Amino acid sequence: MATAVIAIALCMSSLLSLTYAGANINGYVTGKVVCNPCAKKGKGGAPIKSAQMMIICFDKKTNAGTYARKGITDDVGVYKIAMKPGIEKDDCEVRLHKNSPLPDCREIVPGKNVTKVDFSTPVGTSNNKPLYSAAKVIGYKTKGSRCH
Ligand SMILES: *[C@@H]1O[C@H](CO)[C@@H](O)[C@H](O)[C@H]1NC(C)=O
Repeated sequence: MATAVIAIALCMSSLLSLTYAGANINGYVTGKVVCNPCAKKGKGGAPIKSAQMMIICFDKKTNAGTYARKGITDDVGVYKIAMKPGIEKDDCEVRLHKNSPLPDCREIVPGKNVTKVDFSTPVGTSNNKPLYSAAKVIGYKTKGSRCH
């Protein structure tokens, strides 16, 4: 148990060391965090404000971590995370990070706690840079929800 905790801590700190502090931002990744992400054809229920997530990218060939950056949702459950140059060619995913800010909507839904990022076509622009979307809406569920 203690070993597992230490392993997780080491893993997180090595991911965090990938965090890019440069001003050279070349785009953004956006997506949404909701309560009960299975409702309404996957679009989900109420948006969750102040949910924390993290984008993590890996080199497709070596699987080495290339980028990690935290984000937080706004009033309508939307996050927007800055990208560093070059990660469009990597495999990136957005994972829920820490716990839900909502005490009554905090259970993990397997498969809806993480999403790939779709770099095929930008969905718009932000600050004159391309904006890419997460493939799926992610979120937490209420206790007893049939969302799974
Ligand atoms: C998502 O949830 C599943 C099932 O609880 C868990 O095994 C997995 O580690 C979680 N993934 C992330 C990225 O948190």
